Amino acid sequence: MTDMPPLSNLAAIDAAHHLHPFSDMKQLNAKGARIIQRAEGVHIFDSTGKKYLDAFAGLWCVNVGYGRKSIADAAYAQMQDLPYYNTFFGTTTAPAALLAQKIASHTGEKLKRVFFTNSGSEATDTWFRMARVYWKVLGKPEKTLVIARKNAYHGSTVAGASLGGMKLMHEQGNLPIEGIHHINQPYWYAEGGDLSPAEFGLKVARELEAKLDELGEECVAAFVAEPIQGAGGVIIPPETYWPEIARICKARNILLVADEVICGFGRLGTWFGHQYYGFEPDLAPIAKGLSSGYLPIGGVLVSDRVADVMVEELGDFYHGFTYSGHPVSAAAALENIRIIEEEGLVERVRDDIGPYFAAAWKSLEDHVVVGQAESVGLIGGLQLAADKATRRRYAKPDDIGTLVRNHCIENGLILRATGDRMLASPALTISRAEVDEVIDKLRNALDHLRDGVRE
Ligand SMILES: Cc1ncc(COP(=O)(O)O)c(C=O)c1O
Repeated sequence: MTDMPPLSNLAAIDAAHHLHPFSDMKQLNAKGARIIQRAEGVHIFDSTGKKYLDAFAGLWCVNVGYGRKSIADAAYAQMQDLPYYNTFFGTTTAPAALLAQKIASHTGEKLKRVFFTNSGSEATDTWFRMARVYWKVLGKPEKTLVIARKNAYHGSTVAGASLGGMKLMHEQGNLPIEGIHHINQPYWYAEGGDLSPAEFGLKVARELEAKLDELGEECVAAFVAEPIQGAGGVIIPPETYWPEIARICKARNILLVADEVICGFGRLGTWFGHQYYGFEPDLAPIAKGLSSGYLPIGGVLVSDRVADVMVEELGDFYHGFTYSGHPVSAAAALENIRIIEEEGLVERVRDDIGPYFAAAWKSLEDHVVVGQAESVGLIGGLQLAADKATRRRYAKPDDIGTLVRNHCIENGLILRATGDRMLASPALTISRAEVDEVIDKLRNALDHLRDGVRE
């Protein structure tokens, strides 16, 4: 950047003028934001020169790691040729068309079309409208309700925050909007009681059936869920869950929407999370790993079932964003996917670093404050527990998670906490030695919790 003020002033400037997402601004301003200056591989560096291993890939998104010059070059070249043109009113650009084709080469048989957005939240609003439009065109305008899950995250727009199941978000802005209903999540550790995980998976999946009975399936457009709930705490569903959900959606004729914003682009060792769980969604929002966060871009994967109706019967879809399919973002995303392919990152997660990470992460279960440490591919959730034997949780889960997270950050490790769960989601390029470092530093923070907390 040119004309950069002295770093010592930046935190004050930030506090004076910049309102941050998901932040208590009074607290943040009092402390001053940490200024992140540069990044390379899986590491970020702050303005004091301190180095952190970012085991969270930014916000679950920097799948190919930081510092990829070829993505910067692709964006630069595209900016010089055509910095912007839209995809409205009968035009397209090469990067947008080629990116749609490239994405379709990694989806299943029936998920061959993409509608571009700039973010996962916009992708959520987009499929939400598409689902309702789909049924309306088919002569079923009353099929408008959408069933989602408690503790899910689908973004921060009005539809996104409504579909998400976060109570604290609902309390701000009179959400959810009308027509959205939430069922329970497949969070066995906290809510499974005496059932086995397999029994519990079936039980919560069948809540969808009960909700359809209650609402009347003739009024329900869709069910949406993340293949693995991310922001809710990396809640990995029991194996029985997804097959039952897919069965119910099919039997009751509602659209199945898989929110692939986190799980897409290799995180589970498959291109998309639904492929890992072996089901086919009708609609699937994507973002994050699509460009590895180098530039903002998202989209909705649209199955033939929905796309054929939209293409053949709808006429105009009155929906779109100025930057839908932005050529520079699309060029960056194309290069990002080329890297994922060339370096075999999806296969690496499936066959090599994923299993290595799984074993290392699981090894933390021997720690006295850990109730469960689960992972799939390169996404991990670790449940803190006050008593392992009874699955009793700490009285103040948020404080406990924050304590562990802050200790990690002090020691140069970025992890996230959701309540009393520690979450990891590193770049798909992380090395074995770096995985070891994550585990060592996290274990150190767990020791700190064990030694410091008196309930
Ligand atoms: C599953 C899921 N869906 C949607 C979103 C929203 O994406 P964005 O922040 O790009 O709007 C997120 C963001 O974390 C997410 O995790």
